[in-house]
Amino acid sequence: MKPLETGKNIYNVGVRDWNIRDFHGYSVYQGTTYNAFLIIDEKVALIDTVKSEFADQLLDNIAKIIDPKKIDYVISNHTEMDHSGSLPRIMHKIGEDKPLYCSKMGCKNLSLHFSQKWNYKAVENGEELSLGKRTLAFLETRMLHWPDSMFSYLKEDKILFSSDAFGQHYAGSESFDDEIGAAIMPHARKYFANILLPMAPLILKLLEKVNELGLEIDTICPDHGIVWRKDPAKIINAYLDWSSQEPQKKAVVIYDTMWHSTQAMAEAIAAGIGEEGVSAKPIHIRSSHRSEIMTEVMDAKGIIVGSPTINNGLFPTVSDFLTYMKGLKPKNKIGAAFGSYGWSGESVKLINRELEAMKFKIIDPGLKIQFVPDKESLAACIEFGKKIGKSIIE
Ligand SMILES: Cc1cc2nc3c(=O)[nH]c(=O)nc-3n(C[C@H](O)[C@H](O)[C@H](O)COP(=O)(O)O)c2cc1C
Ligand SMILES: [Fe+2]
Ligand SMILES: [Fe+2]
Repeated sequence: MKPLETGKNIYNVGVRDWNIRDFHGYSVYQGTTYNAFLIIDEKVALIDTVKSEFADQLLDNIAKIIDPKKIDYVISNHTEMDHSGSLPRIMHKIGEDKPLYCSKMGCKNLSLHFSQKWNYKAVENGEELSLGKRTLAFLETRMLHWPDSMFSYLKEDKILFSSDAFGQHYAGSESFDDEIGAAIMPHARKYFANILLPMAPLILKLLEKVNELGLEIDTICPDHGIVWRKDPAKIINAYLDWSSQEPQKKAVVIYDTMWHSTQAMAEAIAAGIGEEGVSAKPIHIRSSHRSEIMTEVMDAKGIIVGSPTINNGLFPTVSDFLTYMKGLKPKNKIGAAFGSYGWSGESVKLINRELEAMKFKIIDPGLKIQFVPDKESLAACIEFGKKIGKSIIE
């Protein structure tokens, strides 16, 4: 990608990863970008790098603007390798002794990734670095989403370099929010649901702090996806909304099935919920990527999970999804379990145990049906759905 001027003498020298489809288990059907930002002032600073396999492209992009050797400072906002992977090449090229600024945890975590003894400069929260006419201020954002994460804020230009926050996994021809418009929001939302949801309480606190500090933000430059230059408030407000985890009157019925019995139950339960005027969608786990399912879970009040019993246990994809969902710590949910079984029928009990561990409000002991549901059993599923629907609108 041609280096793009994201501000006066500020360039995105990152790369587009068009072909990636799986990003550590997150489906990225439209690729992603690794953004890295070059600020040219009396001193030249590079904020973050790109995945190691794109190091040459990063260096080429920098070279289109300035001789990479002229970089004075490297700033690492986040240790994860999609942003640090090219550090060895960059440091080697510009000079191993050039200062590398990061948070205290950044220094520790970078040194656990790379054996080189770089000239680490650990910055305190609020510490500033003058680039000449302009100043970078560092804001620690510990656990958002790694212990090393920080933001860098270019004071004079009011630009927030936000690392993974406010990002989206999307590679397209557009580079800015005004170029893509509302079409970027589903990507931002999916990113939040799958990466930032566990940190929702921290995000609320951070946004409060940003508000208290009176930090004016004209532009947000995240490390993935488009830059927010027209309406940064749009993504900040969306984060406030998503972090509050205020559920919608909506249910998702997530299931897997071997011989379609649990599927028939799922569809009847969803229909029953719908009869109460609550939108409900059956989602077959093996037909939908887990990261797509989580995006639906994020704003749903009712999370209904179904599994047949297999070998005295849960169907493995259901366990997989429950493990994934548990890690993302969704809050304020109503839960219920169901499933078809042949003889011992442990699945419902096992799902309930997981939903309880997630602190979902369990509104019914759960619905078990032996082998293939008949008319009566399907009517029971509809009733079960209606009970769920009622407790969602309560
Ligand atoms: C390999 C296999 C193992 C099973 N193990 C159990 C079991 O341990 N306990 C049980 O109650 N049913 C067991 N069943 C029966 C299924 O739970 C039953 O066929 C159910 O109706 C399947 O629902 P489905 O059509 O949604 O897949 C097993 C079925 C298969 C194929
Ligand atoms: Fe990350
Ligand atoms: Fe990232």
